[in-house]
Amino acid sequence: MSPPANGSKPNDADVLVLGSGIAGLFYALRVAAHARVVLVTKKQAAQAATNFAQGGIAAVVSGDDTVEDHIRDTLEAGAGLCREEIVRFVIERGADAIASLLELGVEFDRDAEGGFALGREGGHKRRRVLHHRDATGREIERALLARARAHPNITLLEDFMAVDLLTSRRAGLPGPNRALGAYVLDSHRGTVHRFRARATFLATGGAGKVYLYTSNPDIASGDGIAMAYRAGASVANMEFIQFHPTCLFHSQAKSFLISEAVRGEGGVLRNAAGEAFMAPYHPMADLAPRDVVARAIDTELKRTGEDSVFLDITQREAGWLRERFPTIHQRCLELGIDLTRDPIPVVPAAHYCCGGVVTDMRGETDVVNLFAAGEVTCTGLHGANRLASNSLLEGVVFAEAAATETLTRLPDLPAIDGPIAAWHEGAATESSEAVVITQNWDEIRRFMWNYVGIVRTDKRLARAQRRIVLLRDEITEYYWNFRITPPLLELRNLATVARLVISCASQRKESRGLHYTLDHPGRGDDELAEDTLIRHPDAL
Ligand code: SIN
Repeated sequence: MSPPANGSKPNDADVLVLGSGIAGLFYALRVAAHARVVLVTKKQAAQAATNFAQGGIAAVVSGDDTVEDHIRDTLEAGAGLCREEIVRFVIERGADAIASLLELGVEFDRDAEGGFALGREGGHKRRRVLHHRDATGREIERALLARARAHPNITLLEDFMAVDLLTSRRAGLPGPNRALGAYVLDSHRGTVHRFRARATFLATGGAGKVYLYTSNPDIASGDGIAMAYRAGASVANMEFIQFHPTCLFHSQAKSFLISEAVRGEGGVLRNAAGEAFMAPYHPMADLAPRDVVARAIDTELKRTGEDSVFLDITQREAGWLRERFPTIHQRCLELGIDLTRDPIPVVPAAHYCCGGVVTDMRGETDVVNLFAAGEVTCTGLHGANRLASNSLLEGVVFAEAAATETLTRLPDLPAIDGPIAAWHEGAATESSEAVVITQNWDEIRRFMWNYVGIVRTDKRLARAQRRIVLLRDEITEYYWNFRITPPLLELRNLATVARLVISCASQRKESRGLHYTLDHPGRGDDELAEDTLIRHPDAL
């Protein structure tokens, strides 16, 4: 499947956008004012992680709050590893980001006086989370997607999955490594096309599916992180996987989150004996930062041998609960749990990847003209632990920055008509053993959960490392011999991301934020704290 030159039809654009969540759509809408955009998304456009974000978007929009307070909460959650200039850059732009979303037609809940109804979540010392009931992401996705679909300069292609980025280095061109577009699989036809572009924007989201239990939708297989790594971009801090403390525990509840906003409105975590257990773990008790709450639940489960703990919001008035949390209320009811009367069974699950592709303040990676924003990136905002509801804000701020830089640069970027080879399948044949994909996928997710989960040890990481090396070889062989399909591409990317997580976790010999290891339980000197940085050997 190496790509020699012969002519599959080019799908050229000024800008190629990969991904249809908040960052991809916002960026596309901004650059489409002056450029021709092709946006590809591997399933239906609304299946982005944004669509499932319940809590909301944190920003300073009330007189009771200050930018300095939001910065302080972000830095505290980040456990000494945030880049302060980036935190300031993002938080200072919070109110403008909200204004932009309102302009694009997003609606946030209001209070009786017409001001924003602000929620609170773990790690926030003030109410500052703008929300749309408990389905904020769905509202944002609705508004932005409608605009993108209607825009004459945006071509939106669903069920088109990027295989790999096109770069000048791969094409054998001289000069610094530059992004030139991507090879993209048309999932319905099974054909791979060359999409050439003068600038490329990655907004493919996170990698929760690398773990057995996750709050993420099925699309979250780390595709952008893996592709950028293969293309030579730096990736950092992959050990910092955020486990959301409260995912619904029920045999039929696949990946359903119980928003932290429930604790923000007074929800209390109890063990099976009905005891509220968070107070001894942290002064903010149930509203402690997420890493603390997830570890506390893990400890309680191991101590009691129970399958879940319980989130109890029954002290709030039933009508108010139904109005404030309609999505959660409805889903729980379908499974026989009435949250107005019953404590909700919950467990932690992989939720957010704080590491990713390294970008600068313009949202550019270290592959020239490859921009990125959202969960796929590591900007320096989250440090070792993301503050709740900071991610949608980060997506908008960096999509805006990247769009501004792209538009400044576009007039000087030549059209791509160089020697970029069309895709060539070589001797690849149809696989008669698709079971290899499901088997390897299950194996990765299970050992990542057991060995690279909430609490780690050197020995568990070494076991995971041995397994991923074996699997990588098997998956690579399969990839080169058989015709590609979306599940095979996802498996290949998932294996790469698992390797990056294991590698970063093995390098960090301390416990900091979301990385907790029994062999190195103390937090090192903050002055000396560094990101764990990885580059593909070919890029060094
Ligand atoms: C939640 O609603 O608890 C999720 C919010 C977030 O992950 O930022």
